[in-house]
Amino acid sequence: MTFPKFGKAFRSEFSFQPDYVPLNHGSYGTYPNAIKPILRGYQEAAEEHPDRWMRYEQHPILQKNLKLVGQMIHADPKDLAFLPNASQAANNVLRSFPFKAGDKILYYQIGYINVNKTLEFVRDQYGVELVRVDLRLPMEDDEILDLTRQAIQREQAKTDEPKIVMAVIDALSSLPAARLPFERLTKLVQENGILAMVDGAHTMGHIELDMQAMNPDFFFANCHKWFFTPRGCCILYVPKRNQGYVHPTTITLNYKHHTEGGDHSSFALEQIPSTMDTSPYMCIEAAIKYRESLGGERVINDYCHDLAVKGGALVADMLGTCVMENAAKTLTANMVNVQLPVRPTTSKPDAAIVDTYLKKLIYEHNTMASPYKHNGKWWVRLCAQIYLDLDDFETAGKALLAITNEINKE
Ligand SMILES: Cc1ncc(COP(=O)(O)O)c(C=O)c1O
Repeated sequence: MTFPKFGKAFRSEFSFQPDYVPLNHGSYGTYPNAIKPILRGYQEAAEEHPDRWMRYEQHPILQKNLKLVGQMIHADPKDLAFLPNASQAANNVLRSFPFKAGDKILYYQIGYINVNKTLEFVRDQYGVELVRVDLRLPMEDDEILDLTRQAIQREQAKTDEPKIVMAVIDALSSLPAARLPFERLTKLVQENGILAMVDGAHTMGHIELDMQAMNPDFFFANCHKWFFTPRGCCILYVPKRNQGYVHPTTITLNYKHHTEGGDHSSFALEQIPSTMDTSPYMCIEAAIKYRESLGGERVINDYCHDLAVKGGALVADMLGTCVMENAAKTLTANMVNVQLPVRPTTSKPDAAIVDTYLKKLIYEHNTMASPYKHNGKWWVRLCAQIYLDLDDFETAGKALLAITNEINKE
């Protein structure tokens, strides 16, 4: 079987404007044109007979798609629920878990902003204490494990204080974009009696997932980022032993109080959403078929990883800087971080620097990659995808160089 050749020519499979060079797939994702009629078909069916659809006919289709995701990530579909996005999944878990005042949650400063803000909310609302671990990337996996272990030992040694109850662990963090040793971190925290909530927002369609092997306590992944479903499609995985802890953020008729984490009697029912368009959830099947027609997960991700590594090296060379990577080269998956040569003495405020990059990249150079500051230095995250070639990274590199020179002149 021959599969299509990836690269720029592939952009016509998607809805991009012809001259747009999109290197920011990780933020919002996008889906191929082949999936549009599937999505629209479900939306049409809903409008043809809303009562029949909402009460009855959508449910078996949703179940079938949950089962397909379950097969992909080695999870019992009864442990899965659909949600519109990863922020809502994090909110479901963190805002419904029965924390007691003083309980501690371990988290990392590089965690996604919406998730870390939800932690602040839980702290302010319920009196939970947050234990922050700072990761200054690039770091080796072992160093990340060591820092986490030290934080756990330090906190758990305080015998007169409540313990760390939960840890929030990124699988692939956002900014910086890094593949963290999430499988080992999950095991480490669990060995210390701590529940592991793994933010896998970027994982579906990006790296291999196996819920049985990883055995997280809570896990979520967007399908609209790297898996090519339409936007508004995320899966939440909660094994039965913890389903009693989780209720949706929007409580509906199926709400039931649980006194035990292991009471899984109402998880699936409670997660049925109130009125909304669930058709993005139904496009899992079409996304799987489309991805198989390209050669499958390995073929897609080998291309993307190789392009991220080569593209990152090219842009770093153009900017005279470096890629954020450790000695074992474990940090880069399909997103690569390149240092930006912003003058350290610039008087421009950080927010203005970000704003300048964003607006100029989008409106003057018709491209996009995400700039950010980490550990006192400026970086940009560039995302590889099957519709990109190396010279697309060159285009972004030229734009980044021009904008950096303008910022440095001010
Ligand atoms: C690591 C991580 N977690 C959570 C999210 C939130 O995803 P969403 O915007 O779909 O809620 C993102 C979004 O980029 C992310 O990168």
